[in-house]
Amino acid sequence: MIRTPSRVALLGTMFRSLTVIILLVLSESSIAAFGPSFQRCPADFQLVRRGQTVSASEAQYIEQKRKKVLPAAFQAYLKSVKSTGVTLPEYVETILECGDQLPTVGITTSGGGYRAALFGAGVLNALDARNSSSVKKGTGGLLQAATHLAGLSGGGWLVTSLAQANLPTIQDLVFGAGNFGGWIPDFDFFDASSNTTVQATYAEELLQEIAVKAQHFPVSVGDVWGRALARHFSNGTTLATFFANTSQGGGLLFSDLVNLPTFASHEHPFPIMVTDLDSKHITGPIFPGGNFIPLNTPLFEINLFEFGSYDDVLAAHTPLQNLGTTNNSVCVTGFDEAMYLAGTTSNLWNEFNVSDAILAESTTDFSVLVNETYPQSPALRLDTSNFPNPFHGVAPDTFADSHETILALCDGGEDGQISPLQPMLVKDRNIDVIITIDATNDANGFAEGASLIATQERMQQFFQGGLATFPTVPSNLTVFIAEGLATRPTFFGCTPTTAGPLLVYIANGAPPRDGAAPLTNTTTTQTIYTAPEMQGMLDQTFVVATQGAEVDGALEDREWGACLACAVVDRARARQGVERSGVCETCFSRYCWEG
Ligand SMILES: *[C@@H]1O[C@H](CO)[C@@H](O)[C@H](O)[C@H]1NC(C)=O
Ligand SMILES: *[C@@H]1O[C@H](CO)[C@@H](O)[C@H](O)[C@H]1NC(C)=O
Ligand SMILES: *[C@@H]1O[C@H](CO)[C@@H](O)[C@H](O)[C@H]1NC(C)=O
Ligand SMILES: *[C@@H]1O[C@H](CO)[C@@H](O)[C@H](O)[C@H]1NC(C)=O
Ligand SMILES: *[C@@H]1O[C@H](CO)[C@@H](O)[C@H](O)[C@H]1NC(C)=O
Ligand SMILES: *[C@@H]1O[C@H](CO)[C@@H](O)[C@H](O)[C@H]1NC(C)=O
Ligand SMILES: *[C@@H]1O[C@H](CO)[C@@H](O)[C@H](O)[C@H]1NC(C)=O
Ligand SMILES: *[C@@H]1O[C@H](CO)[C@@H](O)[C@H](O)[C@H]1NC(C)=O
Ligand SMILES: *[C@@H]1O[C@H](CO)[C@@H](O)[C@H](O)[C@H]1NC(C)=O
Repeated sequence: MIRTPSRVALLGTMFRSLTVIILLVLSESSIAAFGPSFQRCPADFQLVRRGQTVSASEAQYIEQKRKKVLPAAFQAYLKSVKSTGVTLPEYVETILECGDQLPTVGITTSGGGYRAALFGAGVLNALDARNSSSVKKGTGGLLQAATHLAGLSGGGWLVTSLAQANLPTIQDLVFGAGNFGGWIPDFDFFDASSNTTVQATYAEELLQEIAVKAQHFPVSVGDVWGRALARHFSNGTTLATFFANTSQGGGLLFSDLVNLPTFASHEHPFPIMVTDLDSKHITGPIFPGGNFIPLNTPLFEINLFEFGSYDDVLAAHTPLQNLGTTNNSVCVTGFDEAMYLAGTTSNLWNEFNVSDAILAESTTDFSVLVNETYPQSPALRLDTSNFPNPFHGVAPDTFADSHETILALCDGGEDGQISPLQPMLVKDRNIDVIITIDATNDANGFAEGASLIATQERMQQFFQGGLATFPTVPSNLTVFIAEGLATRPTFFGCTPTTAGPLLVYIANGAPPRDGAAPLTNTTTTQTIYTAPEMQGMLDQTFVVATQGAEVDGALEDREWGACLACAVVDRARARQGVERSGVCETCFSRYCWEG
């Protein structure tokens, strides 16, 4: 992702001459002619919806899912749990079998590049009813029973690719099937070929594909980043057509996913992505560990229907299908390209100071190329993903960027919250249990728990208002490490009086217990993987998420499936005033961190 200066200089020279050619073809209709367009707004159009409740469309999606999908999904899940032979307390079965008391399960999947995308995928696979090995372990089916799925950065790639491919199995997602070519990690995102001719054409295609958008909107490295990601995470590319000059998934809108079969049937968990605001008006504490965005910055989420912020300082949302719109008369459509949004949640380029002309030359060429190809106001940033601000003038006393015309957005984990937990704390979502998949790199490519501490600090210090209680986690990594809370699943928020959701923490926290060499702790900057490497990561993750070491039955927790089910039903149990009992009691003493 970060190039050597010599290569940059080479490409820079090559592209200064190509710029002329590119500018010439802009006016002609080309194969890459997709991008936003303008229409008169419908009469009832509402640019901004204020508040901390969910949209009517989301409420309806979840209601339909609860009615049509969850009863059978939870029954299948219960069958999987019971197949392990562990005796469950009666209340576990009653809750999972009873249509009107079903738990609300949210899943979050962290940032960390391909490592995180693969670890997240591996955990989802272990929760998938369609994998018979997962069903045998007693964990299969929870994916189908989950209502919400949030991802950021690498986790955002997973969420977007899964959604646009219509919820295939994880094997089909990662390796490709049907119209989806798989993740194709044979090539780097930007530095796709070492052949300078091929690379030059590739770069020219990326730049051309944003031409229509550039006619009316600011463009930046975030736009070409989205086009590069499209070749890996959206339909329209195969290994054979990777370098072809075709639309490469262009024009695929996030708001259109609702029309896919698994959304129409409400089988798909409600997808959410998180992005940080890079505001020049906010100063505040930076969470330690190389983070970039102050912890007191409002967070933004992109979901199937809306873009906005649930933080009390803004509490405002805009329709996703009209992203780019800034008033109630002229409406934009086509701005919400799925891969541009996947690029927004994973846009780390601002950390490389590419807006600074001098540093730009030495860290990346694409911001320079965008700048040369599409000259625009120097006031516009080239390193962030830029959205026309739909919240201009909204909450001027509390929202720092209220008077800005552009929201400069970046990777959702840059504030240190590398797990997208905040969407699960929206009270109106009523989440009972958050399955938190964490593949952050805290040390040696493994997670230690820092991202949970970041969320706890942010909630305690700045953003309690209007959000659900975040379960208490240790205040420092010393405790996480000493107690091994990331090296095996841990439950937080077990105390019966705790309000808010229970958190089931499944981290990529340690090498395999059977002594095998670890495969899941690759660097965040590794962008090229072989198929066997990916399969190895998925398989080691399967062992983590099922708590079973295949090679040695003695290392397995035979009760893990039951324990996870105990966590899933625990808030529903408390609502009914039933005491924890049986295996759930022993599970909670084994997996809970009580402080
Ligand atoms: C891609 O094809 C279009 C025509 O469909 C053409 O205008 C454009 O120059 C081509 N791009 C490259 C990099 O060859
Ligand atoms: C992408 O391809 C998959 C697999 O063939 C298909 O099920 C899905 O509908 C396609 N998605 C879109 C947006 O066309
Ligand atoms: C680079 O790719 C071009 C176009 O495919 C090909 O003609 C050329 O031989 C390649 N150069 C090298 C050094 O492989
Ligand atoms: C509404 O937005 C459009 C597109 O950005 C702009 O051209 C137009 O002037 C705006 N209209 C008003 C009334 O502000
Ligand atoms: C980037 O800019 C920030 C803020 O101005 C500064 O703290 C940081 O040191 C810069 N990074 C580099 C690599 O120069
Ligand atoms: C962008 O281009 C302008 C000239 O159009 C130049 O002044 C500026 O330094 C460029 N910025 C970067 C980061 O290259
Ligand atoms: C992965 O972990 C092993 C030790 O368990 C370590 O030797 C290796 O350096 C780590 N890999 C990375 C990329 O940090
Ligand atoms: C870490 O947290 C524990 C418990 O919250 C506390 O006792 C300890 O003093 C803390 N250590 C450091 C280094 O802050
Ligand atoms: C189930 O998961 C395991 C572990 O990753 C994998 O090897 C297997 O291929 C998966 N089966 C299916 C049907 O997806």
